[in-house]
Amino acid sequence: MFNNRTKIKALLQMQPEGQSVTVMGWVRTFRNNQFVALNDGSTNANLQVVLELGKFDDALLRRITTSASLKVTGTVVASLGKGQAVEVKAEHVEILGDSDSEKYPLQPKKHSLEFLREIAHLRFRTNTFGSVFRIRHSLAFAVHKFYNEKGFVYLHTPIITASDAEGAGEMFRVSTLPFDNPPRKEDGTIDFAEDFFGRATNLTVSGQLEGELGATAFGEIYTFGPTFRAENSNTARHLAEFWMIEPEMAFCDLEDNANLAEEFIQYLIRHVMEHNAEDLEFLRQRLLDEEKSKPQAERSEMDLIQKLQFVVDNKFERITYTEAIDILLQSPHYKKKKFQYDVAWGIDMQSEHERYLVEKHFKKPVIVTNYPAAIKAFYMRQDDGCAPGRETVAAMDILAPGIGEIVGGSQREERLDKLEQRMTAMNIPHEELWWYLDTRRFGTVPHAGFGLGFERMVQFVTGMGNIRDVIAFPRTPKSAEF
Ligand code: 4AD
Ligand code: MG
Repeated sequence: MFNNRTKIKALLQMQPEGQSVTVMGWVRTFRNNQFVALNDGSTNANLQVVLELGKFDDALLRRITTSASLKVTGTVVASLGKGQAVEVKAEHVEILGDSDSEKYPLQPKKHSLEFLREIAHLRFRTNTFGSVFRIRHSLAFAVHKFYNEKGFVYLHTPIITASDAEGAGEMFRVSTLPFDNPPRKEDGTIDFAEDFFGRATNLTVSGQLEGELGATAFGEIYTFGPTFRAENSNTARHLAEFWMIEPEMAFCDLEDNANLAEEFIQYLIRHVMEHNAEDLEFLRQRLLDEEKSKPQAERSEMDLIQKLQFVVDNKFERITYTEAIDILLQSPHYKKKKFQYDVAWGIDMQSEHERYLVEKHFKKPVIVTNYPAAIKAFYMRQDDGCAPGRETVAAMDILAPGIGEIVGGSQREERLDKLEQRMTAMNIPHEELWWYLDTRRFGTVPHAGFGLGFERMVQFVTGMGNIRDVIAFPRTPKSAEF
């Protein structure tokens, strides 16, 4: 029987009264043929297991190597050593799995994040990734808790779809047609009518369109699932496969939408601060160490926990796109020509512009609303009363310090005629989205929603600089190992 073990996290909280326990885990270090630092992943803190000298066979002791897995039965006693209050005095030690420590890639020393990415199958066994992935779990749990408490219905939207929700065309095709000799139509193009689904399909870029179908029946739904983008962006913020949370609310406008997004982000942070204090403290210290190698001027004013507390305590800034462009145009940064990309009304802001707004100008999260229609998706609600050439839509992006865009959302176009006009203008075939248009035909309502990039949220909370370090097995251009 294996499930009567005590987890190390719980054990370290116990009053040492000689209780008999069984623990299992992996050896981090073994000193003086006496002291095993054992880790079982429940916490970064190792359990000190003490092996009385002379009590155990040499043959057994030789097998206690870094990363070997052990089952230890013993008693919980007060520790005489520094660094821990309790330890386990071993009565019986069983090697569950040997490990050749010469060949084991993780040595008890500091490894670079780049190196650890190459051994992503083992990096969970480091303190940094232990903390990051326990926090990632906690955030995922808090997502469901938040929406459940609000009475939202969790809707599982499809992974395989025939529509391009974002209209950006950055999709992975799903097909069972033979690559070498696909069936062709008379004009030479591939005949997807012969394909598995009888039409061209792809991996979803967003569950939003189906989410809207749910919201116009349940009132409020959310999705939380994987989404896929074949954009060739090799940055520290982009993945080809990432997780997104997309709430969608009927009877909701842009302001309600922004309120919910702000409340949601603050709730997630608060949850982690309450439930993952130890892991956050580890990551705070990790960042401080990392910053020591930077010049004073580039170090952040706040540490990780202060930054999170600040975001929880302060309202987000809210400005329109037009105001954001004005701020950029007036900035000393612009006047000194320090932006690589030009600034003018109508541009799709580059990350340098977004980061200037949040990191230099406001120094807090910013909700930017009412973007130019020309740079946004077809489903966004057209603002009324715009000046010609200055047409905007009820869009919102939330920009976070150190991350840039963390949320993208909008109020949706609920007026059938306006939606159809926009689709025509953007060459989106109406017949493919007949089901979407039906929601506007049968009891249309004002509604809105947004998408929170889950990995970007994990980055924000953990302070990890590269998105590849907050998802277990990152999928990026030219990389799908593990
Ligand atoms: O702004 P996006 O493209 O919005 C949508 O997909 C809408 N359908 C959401 C909605 O209104 N329901 O993506 C939403 C968020 C971004 O703000 C960003 O945080 C994240 O998803 N995101 C990515 N994260 C990692 N890698 C990528 N390639 C991402 N693309 C978007
Ligand atoms: Mg976006």
